[in-house]
Amino acid sequence: MTYSHPNSMSGHVAIVTGAAQGVGKGVAAALLERGASVLLTDIQDEKLADTTGELKALGPAESLVADLRDPESGQRIAAAAVDAFGAVHGLVNNAIATNEPKSFVNITLEDFALGHDVGPRATFLLMQAVHPLMVKAGGGSIVNLGSGTGTGGEPKWGGYATAKEGIRGLSKVAALEWGRDNIRVNVICPFAESDGVKFWKSFAPKEYEKAVGRVPMKRIGDVHTDVGALVAFLLGSDATFITGQTIHVDGGIGSFR
Ligand SMILES: NC(=O)c1ccc[n+]([C@@H]2O[C@H](COP(=O)([O-])OP(=O)(O)OC[C@H]3O[C@@H](n4cnc5c(N)ncnc54)[C@H](O)[C@@H]3O)[C@@H](O)[C@H]2O)c1
Repeated sequence: MTYSHPNSMSGHVAIVTGAAQGVGKGVAAALLERGASVLLTDIQDEKLADTTGELKALGPAESLVADLRDPESGQRIAAAAVDAFGAVHGLVNNAIATNEPKSFVNITLEDFALGHDVGPRATFLLMQAVHPLMVKAGGGSIVNLGSGTGTGGEPKWGGYATAKEGIRGLSKVAALEWGRDNIRVNVICPFAESDGVKFWKSFAPKEYEKAVGRVPMKRIGDVHTDVGALVAFLLGSDATFITGQTIHVDGGIGSFR
């Protein structure tokens, strides 16, 4: 049993970061199939081109290769969306990068900086870049990606957890400041079978099985139909009075923390 409103996003222009694969690709697909125009951006050029080519079958999709560690990339991405589609109404800060998990005392400054540069710093800079565009459009909606690893904590993921909670902090502040501009900011924390999770599963199969076993709904989420559908709801016109929230879309695994 599936449900998707085919026109709920028509007239909306959205940017999705980290869209070459995983959750970002699933989100872009869900937005496109509901009628949005989407700028997909990622650091992986070939994969981004393949994904964009594939998703063009669903609707107007354009792409931009950008490294979010570059502080200029936020302005470049926002400008590319305007060039492609004339406006920006939605932003999904989805990209993340991490080194391998390490116990707290072994996390290096480099590990820490990677997650923070691609996570909260890039999220912050892109939000600054799209703010005037959303004001011009009469409002907008931003979905930032948090994690149950941040909201609940998780051994060996110290740098990642702080990056994700940093994103939640800045999301709450922007929600408070930008409500008057009709710009909503929410955070989602997924548990879904992305490429990143498949990679984690390959080196930690037992932890993966344990994590899936703890999910009350006894399965891992789908990046498109579970996570993408929630993002489409939050970016669209059915969620016009929802802001400042964190929603776990994880089958219940992190909802009771
Ligand atoms: N999949 C899950 O279960 C899960 C759980 C909790 C949180 N999340 C969050 O969801 C988001 C997506 O996760 P995912 O599992 O799809 O990850 P993923 O690793 O499959 O995808 C991440 C994407 O970000 C891109 N990226 C990495 N560094 C970049 C850079 N410097 N510049 C631009 N793009 C860059 C990668 O190329 C990749 O396409 C992340 O923010 C993650 O923290 C996912």
